[in-house]
Amino acid sequence: MTKEQKIALVAEKNAEWAGLSALESAQTAVRWAVETFGLRAALSTSLSYEDQAVTDMIARQVKGSVRIFTLDTGRMFSQIYDLIDRTNRRYGIRIEVFFPDYAKVQEMVRQHGINLFYDSVELRHLCCDIRKIEPLKRALKGVDVWITGLRRSQSVTRTDMQIIEYDTADDVIKLNPLMLWSEADVIDYVKSNNVPYNKMHEQGYPSIGCQPCTRAINPGEDIRAGRWWWENPDKRECGLHSRKH
Ligand code: ADX
Ligand code: SF4
Repeated sequence: MTKEQKIALVAEKNAEWAGLSALESAQTAVRWAVETFGLRAALSTSLSYEDQAVTDMIARQVKGSVRIFTLDTGRMFSQIYDLIDRTNRRYGIRIEVFFPDYAKVQEMVRQHGINLFYDSVELRHLCCDIRKIEPLKRALKGVDVWITGLRRSQSVTRTDMQIIEYDTADDVIKLNPLMLWSEADVIDYVKSNNVPYNKMHEQGYPSIGCQPCTRAINPGEDIRAGRWWWENPDKRECGLHSRKH
């Protein structure tokens, strides 16, 4: 598909789904992506509540198959590996795991140290680039529709996002089926459909990334306050969703 065709399709679908409720728009969007694009659609999962809800919609409620992949940065919580395994067994799927380029990681650690991310925002971005962005680009090769678990109410950096949008950085259609969902909608879906989830979400970790860059939050704190907590809130993105290149 050309860039122009993707942009036109995005406008058409946004208009078509405008009147739907949060749940209807999610199910309609996921079904459309899987049935229209098959293996040219791919869900990126961090095994969060949100991603598990979308995985369930794809694996159990939609006919046809789709790619589901995760980026293993090498710094994940051990609970994530357990959940990958439980999810695979539960749905009879095999989540694809992408790893960073070992030579780049080795060089970065030699030059800047193993926990370089605490030293400066630039070094934190270097780590995210090597451990997440480069593998993401590899994972998205040949993908027309990139499905995510992003929600608008997660962050000040996400308030302008749409259910379906054109992503210039990766030249893909980006589908965010849960864009209109609240955190309570996600928890309700996961519990009522008996979807496997990470128990850490109930222990003060509403948003989970790499282990050294995630901490538990206190009641009443912003749900992403535990991600890169030492940085300014408007910089707290790893670049997966906010790149210009
Ligand atoms: S992040 O940019 O701050 O790390 P967040 O944890 O909110 O992102 O997750 C938002 C979406 O990004 C997820 O729904 C998922 O689609 C994608 N994502 C985040 N981390 C990963 C990962 N390690 N592997 C694959 N996809 C991921
Ligand atoms: Fe590195 Fe932290 Fe980014 Fe993970 S979240 S890739 S450990 S800087």
